[in-house]
Amino acid sequence: MKFFVDTADITEIRDLADSGLLDGVTTNPSLIAKSGRNFLDLVAEICDVVDGPVSAEVASTDFDTMLAEGLKIAKISPRVAVKVPLTPAGLKVCKALSSEGTMVNVTLCFSPAQAILAAKAGATFVSPFVGRLDDIGQEGMGIISDICEIYANYDYFKTEVLVASVRSPMHIVNAARIGAHVVTAPTSVLKQLFNHPLTDKGLAQFVQDWKKTGQSIL
Ligand code: E4P
Repeated sequence: MKFFVDTADITEIRDLADSGLLDGVTTNPSLIAKSGRNFLDLVAEICDVVDGPVSAEVASTDFDTMLAEGLKIAKISPRVAVKVPLTPAGLKVCKALSSEGTMVNVTLCFSPAQAILAAKAGATFVSPFVGRLDDIGQEGMGIISDICEIYANYDYFKTEVLVASVRSPMHIVNAARIGAHVVTAPTSVLKQLFNHPLTDKGLAQFVQDWKKTGQSIL
């Protein structure tokens, strides 16, 4: 399973890239607004830091402008995955860009039916938002199972399921159980994966007992 971080904070991205666990980055217009950075400069900087796909989203909603934005964003780096919304115009842009070899991430997916359309449009990634479905009382992880099952029925669907809107480590564990290709999560959630009280307790004991030996390994 690949780990992407869902942030536009370059300091967090550098830190995670150093950990060796990071496979890519996703951003969205809300995260860009929060960063206060120039969008195109920031995407270029992230592409220099991360050895993997970097999703950068178009800002318009009509076909012509989205396509022009997508082409401009794609020029930044071959690592860019142009993010487009799951709308008829967005999928038309997806088809146009993916036919030219540009990676495309189709975002704002909330149903298996929508995910079928994204695969047919040649998306590199489809992003179902599990947390936002949970928020409205639907089981977000349910659509991940459905989409993975559907995609597995067709060899020619090459789209990877990128589980998005992740709110907890259990979202990641459940996505891995289902076999989703990628998760994107905020830094805080990725860091929570390390945590277990018995790890902390066990390590404290080992450090204490090692001191009793009076030895040094180096
Ligand atoms: C995905 O690419 C989105 O940026 C993201 O996962 C949205 O998450 P949110 O629902 O926590 O805003």
